[in-house]
Amino acid sequence: MKRIICLMAAMGAALAQDMGPAVFNKSCAVGYCHGSGGTAGRAPKLLGRNYEHQFVWKVTRDGIPNTGMPGWKERLNASELEAVIAYVVKISGGKLDPKLAGSAGESGPAIPADAKRGKQLFFDAVRGEGRCSTCHALDEMGIAIGPNLLSSSAFDHDTLRNGKPSAVRLAKAGSETFSALLVEQRPNETVVYDLALPLPVLRTFAKGEVSFSSGAEWRHSKAVTKYTDADLDSVAAYLKWMASR
Ligand code: HEC
Repeated sequence: MKRIICLMAAMGAALAQDMGPAVFNKSCAVGYCHGSGGTAGRAPKLLGRNYEHQFVWKVTRDGIPNTGMPGWKERLNASELEAVIAYVVKISGGKLDPKLAGSAGESGPAIPADAKRGKQLFFDAVRGEGRCSTCHALDEMGIAIGPNLLSSSAFDHDTLRNGKPSAVRLAKAGSETFSALLVEQRPNETVVYDLALPLPVLRTFAKGEVSFSSGAEWRHSKAVTKYTDADLDSVAAYLKWMASR
């Protein structure tokens, strides 16, 4: 199965590269700009300049301010961008950086490959309620039940898995006890997230109906069982990358 996916990815990459010359001729080698095949036009020649992938990536996407070089990230789609960037790096004699593979259509600065994988895992629908975004919001997606992860420095799988619960309490309401996160204490009501089920539930109790103590049974490790250590390392790379932006 893995092999088939690799093969498909390789074919995809090959197709994307083949598009390179066509996108270049249509968009870059026109009129007053780069000569065909990257020879000198009015704009600089690109052949044999040994460009860094990162440089071509940035300049192609964002353009160069106050020059004739426009940014292409809104004018080309992700696969066209990918193909034309790879083509320009290639004809310049530079080397493709595997870390930038597949990132040309991303918004914002280049996301490294492991962080990109981590991002997919974080929001992975296949993991259902067991995915991180069930309880954490990042990049304006997901639900902010758990703490804001950008101020955390839990950047390895062990900390991500086990953490040390500090906010979760044992809640007692009548004869019922459950692990809970206090959301809001209003004058006449207490709002909590009930963590008893995989999908936390928001509940409101009238004044005096619920009390809290330490000793909650909830463990972060139980919330992340759908992830392997390697998965969590990628997720950690994503968190680190988000925090560094
Ligand atoms: C079922 C909900 C749930 C899921 C799913 C979940 N978390 Fe959490 N997470 C929490 C809660 C609640 C806390 C706070 C625990 C506490 O402080 O007692 C927390 C804490 C954390 C912390 C510590 C933050 C800090 O500053 O203390 C990190 C980091 C974290 N989660 C990352 C993740 C990642 C990454 C995933 C996915 C692999 C994930 N979580 C999945 C609910 C969840």
